[in-house]
Amino acid sequence: MKFHHDIVIVGAGLAGLRAAVECVEKADIAIVSKVLPTRSHSGAAQGGITASIGNEEEDHWEWHMFDTVKGSDYLADQDAVEIMVRDAPRVIYELEHMGVPFSRNTVGRIAQRNFGGHTRDYGKKPVKRACHVSDRTGRVVLDTLYDQCLRHKVKFYPEHYVLSLVLEDGRCDGMIAYDLSSGELNLIEAKAVLLATGGCGRIFKTTSNGFASTGDGLNLAHRAGIPLMDMEFVQFHPTGLYPLGILVSEAARGEGAILRNNQGERFMERYAPTVKDLAARDVVSRAILTEVREGRGFEGGFVHLDLTHLGEEKILEKLWEITSFVRIYLGIDPVHEPIPVYPTCHYIMGGIPTDAEGRVLKDESRTVTKGLYAAGECACVSVHGANRLGCNSLLDTLVFGRRAGLAMKEDIAKIEYHPVSDEPLEKAKELIGGLLDNKGPEKIAIIRRNMQSLMMDHCSVFRDEDNLGIGLEEIRSLKKRLRNVEIVNKGRYFNYELMEAIELGHQLDLAEVILLSAFRRKESRGAHFREDFPARDDTNFLKHTLVFPGGEVRYKSVTVTRYHPEARVY
Ligand code: FUM
Repeated sequence: MKFHHDIVIVGAGLAGLRAAVECVEKADIAIVSKVLPTRSHSGAAQGGITASIGNEEEDHWEWHMFDTVKGSDYLADQDAVEIMVRDAPRVIYELEHMGVPFSRNTVGRIAQRNFGGHTRDYGKKPVKRACHVSDRTGRVVLDTLYDQCLRHKVKFYPEHYVLSLVLEDGRCDGMIAYDLSSGELNLIEAKAVLLATGGCGRIFKTTSNGFASTGDGLNLAHRAGIPLMDMEFVQFHPTGLYPLGILVSEAARGEGAILRNNQGERFMERYAPTVKDLAARDVVSRAILTEVREGRGFEGGFVHLDLTHLGEEKILEKLWEITSFVRIYLGIDPVHEPIPVYPTCHYIMGGIPTDAEGRVLKDESRTVTKGLYAAGECACVSVHGANRLGCNSLLDTLVFGRRAGLAMKEDIAKIEYHPVSDEPLEKAKELIGGLLDNKGPEKIAIIRRNMQSLMMDHCSVFRDEDNLGIGLEEIRSLKKRLRNVEIVNKGRYFNYELMEAIELGHQLDLAEVILLSAFRRKESRGAHFREDFPARDDTNFLKHTLVFPGGEVRYKSVTVTRYHPEARVY
């Protein structure tokens, strides 16, 4: 079948929904999503959204900007960071007007809490900056924006999996989408396409990411000729629930929880004497694993997150969600016992390079790809640099999702409609037919498990040249093995095995890009820690990595406006 819309958004998380709300009154728009919209991974975000509204104590956008730049280990583009933090208060009030029931403080104002790396007066002490809805902020904001989309009658294509983008002459004209419910292939033409497909955390064995976070959008762009930027910067959240990896929100430490080693010691005092447990994530994750490596962790490789001193009333009011799933999954009651935690893959700082309007950039000279936009975790604008601060991701999706919506609304008036030939549809039919006919000894689940373990062992919190080099070779051999995979399910309806084979192809491509970028960056910066190059090297590496299709690696300068690189201590 063939469909046509002015604007098509791929992904129904916060960035996609916010963009849709922005342009729905001025354009014919549709959202294509591989999951039911309200199952998008943004719904898993717990802690909050940062904004210097100063409801609890003095705060300023300049402090928020400084913290974000320092948190990024000076790799973020500061013009983009400034746009984001200045817009943050507006984002909060806008959400409130849309119906988000933010938690309140004792005088009835929107409550704010501490989060790692957010400080007052340029690092002097932690500041309460994260606005939240208990510990289910993402869930509530996602439902609110979805309601707004329904109110505006946004057209959804749920459970449609995008197989390829139609990109010709440097211009995007639409996509081919596979309808999971019917097995039909559809050509969806558009003047503007926004990729808002989230991250790729499922490449790693231990992750807080949902099953859908397979990086499809990142690799759709890459396969269509777009470089990927700063992909070596993969964030490990310090407190994944051991041994499952699911998120135990940093909100716990924001509310006063403490990390302890097997001697009961508050070890973060040694690693971050000023802000302690509220240091940036890269610092805390390395500290936890150092404790484990040096024998001060618990058997299996975890430490304790201790909430017991907070009291039942506060725990149940502010941390209800995490308390309930720790009880359900581990049978532990955080009111009385510490929670076992270890670092878990959480977020990719890198992604599809864009300008501040979400327009996709195809080279280091910032050449725009007409009709193609990206926002949210799959995009790299870049506001997080080498390490993202907690609660800046929801802010990123809402600020830059809206800006992409505004840009698309304006741009479509200048973009001509280019009808697409049948060729991309024919190619997609061949792809699906070829996969279903493939015979071979390999199994998707086994290759995926190998990839996830390999990325964990060779490219997680601590890295070095030998391990990265071996990882690259092994990923390349897994890519070859994927050619011999047999799909047992030949059915048309909800053939998830077929979809997983395609997802795995994307994951392996992205794993290779991550390893290659990490191999080439011979320094330590933010979440990329090279044991063989433990210092930051601003002379040679204060620059963004760009990996082009085919594996060519080039670099692009970083925009520094206000804050020049300094030693990063917490
Ligand atoms: O810890 C958390 O609640 C996660 C927040 C975030 O990644 O921004």
